[in-house]
Amino acid sequence: MELSRGVLVTGAAGQLGEALREEFAGSVVAALTRADWDVTLPPPANVPAADVVLHAAAWTDVDGAEAHPQEAAAVNVGGTQHAADLGAPLVVFSTDYVFDGRKGRPYVESDAPNPLSVYGRTKLQAEAAAGQDAWIVRTSWLFGWTSTNFVRTMLRLGAERDEVAVVDDQRGCPTYVGHLASAVRGLLDRPRGVWHLAADDSCTWAEFAEAIFDESGLSCRVRPIKTEELGRPAPRPLNSVLRSERPEAPRLPHWREGLRDCLGRLGY
Ligand SMILES: NC(=O)c1ccc[n+]([C@@H]2O[C@H](COP(=O)([O-])OP(=O)(O)OC[C@H]3O[C@@H](n4cnc5c(N)ncnc54)[C@H](OP(=O)(O)O)[C@@H]3O)[C@@H](O)[C@H]2O)c1
Repeated sequence: MELSRGVLVTGAAGQLGEALREEFAGSVVAALTRADWDVTLPPPANVPAADVVLHAAAWTDVDGAEAHPQEAAAVNVGGTQHAADLGAPLVVFSTDYVFDGRKGRPYVESDAPNPLSVYGRTKLQAEAAAGQDAWIVRTSWLFGWTSTNFVRTMLRLGAERDEVAVVDDQRGCPTYVGHLASAVRGLLDRPRGVWHLAADDSCTWAEFAEAIFDESGLSCRVRPIKTEELGRPAPRPLNSVLRSERPEAPRLPHWREGLRDCLGRLGY
């Protein structure tokens, strides 16, 4: 896609928003944080015209959404509708949590969603709000060098403790935001519709934590536990593995490669 007018990014202070700003540096006509545009409200009048809107603003507090379903829907569904109202080609970001995790194999684009949580339901409704004419990118287990994410949390805990308890019965594809942002660029030259874009290969959260400690040189043990022991408010799919069944889908590198890149940026 020709980016003569430029790219507009929402959620620009989030971890994916940061990576999109970096990937499209030089073509970003506006990088809007919540302070610039609260997406639960219609777009401000001064939003510049763009060739494409990369809509990364979202309510991402999965457990918090259980207690605040209307607020989560206002951001995820209402916000996506408002982003679509800008009238430019739209990329929206959805999630593995639209699936129930009961399939024994990776999820592909044609699998039927069945979200278990409020967050998952709002993201599925957001896909509908984005419309047929958007690129709907389902991704999973995002991590990057900013914001709150599993890698940064494990680095903090690993420096403070000898052992951390991490769930070992949820499997997914930890996806580095830098790799996702670069795949999004490739997607702009492909047809619109639903695309699964997640890191190559898969692991459990406990395996991911072990890799984080290995690669960063922290000597912290991982004690594997079951999801139910954690007692989190929102149910999670046990199988979160996403793959694309579309032959022309951009391929992302292995999650461990993403982890190494991310740790490098964090000074490890
Ligand atoms: N994180 C994951 O593991 C994951 C997995 C699959 C899919 N996704 C999807 O990927 C996308 C990017 O997620 P992320 O990990 O980058 O999330 P993030 O780091 O939490 O960033 C989300 C951004 O949205 C902003 N935001 C929240 N409410 C807003 C509002 N009402 N108006 C404007 N901005 C608002 C947040 O601002 P504040 O900081 O001010 O709250 C934050 O900067 C989301 O669509 C998410 O659902 C994420």
